[in-house]
Amino acid sequence: MSTTHFSMVELIGVKRDGGILPDDALTWIITAYVDKTIPDYQMSALLMAIFLNGMNPDELAAWTRAMLHSGDVLDCSGIPGKKIDKHSTGGVGDKVTIPLAPIVAACGVPIPMMSGRGLGHTGGTRDKLESIRGMETAFDPATFMDLLRRNNVVLGGQSATLVPADRLIYALRDASATVPSVPLISSSIMSKKLAEDLDGLVLDVKVGSGAFMKTIEDARLLAETMVGIGASHDTEVVAFLTNMDQPLGNEIGNASEIRESIDVLQGGGPPDLVEITYLLGREMLVLGGVAKTHEAAQDMLSDAVESGRAFEMFRRIVASQGGDVAVVDDPGLLPIAENTHVVRAAADGWVHRCDALDIGVASVRLGGGRETKEADIDPSVGITVHAKVGAAVETGDPLATITYAEPAKLDAALAAMESAWQIGPAAVAEPSILLDEVR
Ligand code: URA
Repeated sequence: MSTTHFSMVELIGVKRDGGILPDDALTWIITAYVDKTIPDYQMSALLMAIFLNGMNPDELAAWTRAMLHSGDVLDCSGIPGKKIDKHSTGGVGDKVTIPLAPIVAACGVPIPMMSGRGLGHTGGTRDKLESIRGMETAFDPATFMDLLRRNNVVLGGQSATLVPADRLIYALRDASATVPSVPLISSSIMSKKLAEDLDGLVLDVKVGSGAFMKTIEDARLLAETMVGIGASHDTEVVAFLTNMDQPLGNEIGNASEIRESIDVLQGGGPPDLVEITYLLGREMLVLGGVAKTHEAAQDMLSDAVESGRAFEMFRRIVASQGGDVAVVDDPGLLPIAENTHVVRAAADGWVHRCDALDIGVASVRLGGGRETKEADIDPSVGITVHAKVGAAVETGDPLATITYAEPAKLDAALAAMESAWQIGPAAVAEPSILLDEVR
């Protein structure tokens, strides 16, 4: 912790004028903001200066380190093996963590996973998991470590005592139009991941309509920045840039995404979801040192699924986190709203667009996400996509089935999805999932 006193007004001025802030000043800012010596209005001014002028790699490393040490940091040194995690920057239908973590843990890699709740139009792993009756995701660090020791994997949420600086700064960014900034996003994500005491991290940086990064250039810059922060903290980070122009998999919702995840754990599931799960899984096994090559890693992942060990690992996670294993054995017990409405193709042709953002917004309007911070979500509603980009359709064919609880919410969801699908007269190829990688 820094003991030097700085003038916040002068530091804001340095950043406003495009200057470089030294390590000890950055550490002091984070410490003084968390202990409330620096008021919100000064921190907001600094965040806007960072938003406008950026940070160089040394500043970013110091800023991230200060955030990471603003609260508790896990100590995983007592857990044998390299600890590896995965993080997605968020998308629509992105339930990859739910099948991935048990498959990789069943191959012997410890995973101290802390996931988030839904943000905007994107779903959150914690919300999805909590659609399993009784399932808990909030643990204090001691309980979290105990679960990790017992199961080799935890599907938890961000602990309140880890990286308090991020919680405070994120709320301020939300209220000061400074969320979409590469240094602020990357330090926010990486401080939370590094606080898990990881040896390696695989990032899934989503690109496209349903992602926070709309262009490949922005996504690559974010990926390079996060890989750089990892290097400055001696943590190997590999980032994959993957397509989020259309939803991942066929289910968008909470309980319905658990159902689709269980399909993957049992060797089924839609091809795009399976492809990303194995892509990230191979890298986690190599980073974790349990496989020498990606080919060997693929064999291990396939064996974990085909033998039933991955599914058994998921049952064990659910049981030890308070969830009802009967729901895993019979996904028909998951909550499902009783009304359905089918959206149909208005023309013959091929699907050219199946827009992730529109469908994500529609899912929020159904009640599958939060329109205010305090709102409860309804795990029983969702959208099942039947026709994605490249599919041939005829007039009247089903494009999606909406499962809903309240007619007014159905109307709001339909309005959001009005132009989600575009059908054209020419055939188009299915889009590639993997767009690029950064290591
Ligand atoms: N997710 C985070 O954790 N932080 C950000 O700033 C943006 C997305």
